[in-house]
Amino acid sequence: MAAVISELVARSDSESVQVVQEIVRLERKIFPKHESLARSLLEEVSKKNTGLLFLKIGKGKGEEEIVGYVMYSWISSLCVSITKLAVKENHRRQGHGEALLKAAMQKCRTRKIQRICLHVDPMRTPAVSLYNKIGFQIDELIECYYSSDRNAYRMYLDFVIDVILICACNAINLNCIN
Ligand SMILES: CC(C)(COP(=O)(O)OP(=O)(O)OC[C@H]1O[C@@H](n2cnc3c(N)ncnc32)[C@H](O)[C@@H]1OP(=O)(O)O)[C@@H](O)C(=O)NCCC(=O)NCCS
Repeated sequence: MAAVISELVARSDSESVQVVQEIVRLERKIFPKHESLARSLLEEVSKKNTGLLFLKIGKGKGEEEIVGYVMYSWISSLCVSITKLAVKENHRRQGHGEALLKAAMQKCRTRKIQRICLHVDPMRTPAVSLYNKIGFQIDELIECYYSSDRNAYRMYLDFVIDVILICACNAINLNCIN
């Protein structure tokens, strides 16, 4: 089944409303109440500094379903925060989470940002593994971040290294030309 990642662009037409409703249903199933954006999702995605990508797959007979989504928010001109990432339980471990995260990072890089950050409960081992795999590092453990008994890692990925590498490559090329 081919997976297609799309961006929620227009936010008030009937197709977009349907997409948001489907994501709200997933959000309710996947996250506990205190961590869920189900109630505020529409409001969140209406903000100018927020982006949402969703992944659809065909389920036969020409029908499709959304099986994952990622939400991100520009918190400054240099920094983006990944605010949500989720894949429907029976579609996990097929590369969808990684594809969504990479697509969001690609999207963020269309603007000149230097850092992507996020918060994740250390108990969410699959998510922490995914972020580690992509190159995120743990900044600090924030106690009681989600609730009185649930902490969060603040994680980040800096792009400055890429800039240094590009500069280094350019310098090597220049040296070769000279
Ligand atoms: C985290 C989540 C989005 C991963 O989605 P997924 O589609 O299953 O992930 P992928 O198949 O793309 O896996 C990519 C990498 O993630 C890590 N990973 C995913 N599931 C894992 C698991 N069960 N155990 C350990 N590592 C796991 C691995 O590093 C994996 O790379 P690999 O396949 O080379 O080992 C999914 O588990 C999920 O929705 N969890 C609940 C919601 C959540 O915790 N969201 C993040 C916090 S906001």
